[in-house]
Amino acid sequence: MKYTAPRGTRDLKDREAQAFQALEESARRIFQRYGYEEIRTPVFENVELFKRAVGDTTDIVEKEMYVFEDRGGRKLALRPEGTAGIVRAYLEHAWDKSGGIKKLFYIGPMFRAERPQAGRYREFWQIGAEFFGNPSAQADADVLLLLQDLLAASGLTEVKFLINSIGCAACRPVFREALLKYLDSKQGCLCDDCKRRLARNPLRCLDCKKDMAHFSDAPKMRDSLCGACQAHDQELKGLLTSVQFPYEEAPCLVRGLDYYSRTVFEITAPGLGAQDALGAGGRYDSLVKTLGGPDIPAIGFALGMDRMASAKYGDSLSAGIQPNACSRIFVALAGQGTGMTGFRVLQDLRKAGCTAEIGAPGKSLKAQMRWADAWKAGFVVIVGEEELKRGRVILKNLQKHEQKEIEIENLKSEIEEQREKS
Ligand code: HAM
Repeated sequence: MKYTAPRGTRDLKDREAQAFQALEESARRIFQRYGYEEIRTPVFENVELFKRAVGDTTDIVEKEMYVFEDRGGRKLALRPEGTAGIVRAYLEHAWDKSGGIKKLFYIGPMFRAERPQAGRYREFWQIGAEFFGNPSAQADADVLLLLQDLLAASGLTEVKFLINSIGCAACRPVFREALLKYLDSKQGCLCDDCKRRLARNPLRCLDCKKDMAHFSDAPKMRDSLCGACQAHDQELKGLLTSVQFPYEEAPCLVRGLDYYSRTVFEITAPGLGAQDALGAGGRYDSLVKTLGGPDIPAIGFALGMDRMASAKYGDSLSAGIQPNACSRIFVALAGQGTGMTGFRVLQDLRKAGCTAEIGAPGKSLKAQMRWADAWKAGFVVIVGEEELKRGRVILKNLQKHEQKEIEIENLKSEIEEQREKS
């Protein structure tokens, strides 16, 4: 039997693994600047948490969750997204009782049993943030500016910010009614998914990729917003304009998770094909209460790391890594009694900050040289039986095809000198 990674999953390796590492590093730097603390929540949670938070009638809960029962008969699910678990943690650690304000970020894998295609996986990675306790439009603007900085720090500047308001529990039902009436008149051209959504979640019809072309004259949420939601929306736009934040109004933007209210947004990038959403998020002012806590507002986002890496590197993402050979030193052992010195030389080089590797004892020098070559070494230190008797080793510069015998004590300074000249 030949084992392969499960459908929709893959090994992160080579350039992609390196890209993920760089994305994580720049994200951590920016989060710190905006006062966010890291949180790592479990990869699985009680399935009810997601049903309650994300919504029973959403595609994620209805069709895409990996649900299983553990040996104790507990019903669990691999997390399809991060927000629900973070709200659970926020309440579990009683952060709502210490002023309520909390800014948390997370980086980790999420799981959705979607139909895999380019940019859409069953295991994918998110960088996300949740900001609790600030109901004002200023918090929305702060989160959007953080996102802009984070994307720029990751080298992603050609992005579009699409923003909409989907109102609140007071004004959305009015819009829902108007929309239902409109969609009823379009019954003839609705796809099967939209016919199903019509009864349970009609707002989702608006961002149906198949049908949206027919909906250009659909009622807009913007026109049904209550006074408070309208004021929030106006204030946000005013703040964004005051700092020249580039955004586009997207009156048909709705989200696939039920917990949102007021501001919602999506970030798209060119060159990603059908799955062009780099990230998304919005305000979720009633979720803390829905999950049993007090009335504390919140806003957050998640960026898809798989798509960020792909937007940054395009086709070269699957390429192997070309390390800087100059900085890589291979220690080869030639002859009896050289293992101990070789091992010490290796440790000295690593302590001095070099990337160093050693050949396996008992392998021929030729085999070790092949290994050094495959490992992309810039230098090879040959610890030979004869030279060792004189306290010396051979230093081979693979790029210049030169070699020289030197005292062991002078090895580091000699490598440094040769590196500077190259
Ligand atoms: P979401 O829109 O479901 O929101 O996901 C956010 C991002 O995760 C997407 O824009 C996309 O880049 C990436 N993503 C989602 N599904 C996949 C997939 N199957 N394969 C690859 N990438 C994917 C959320 O998850 C919310 N929790 C965001 C949020 C946080 N809202 C408030 N706080």
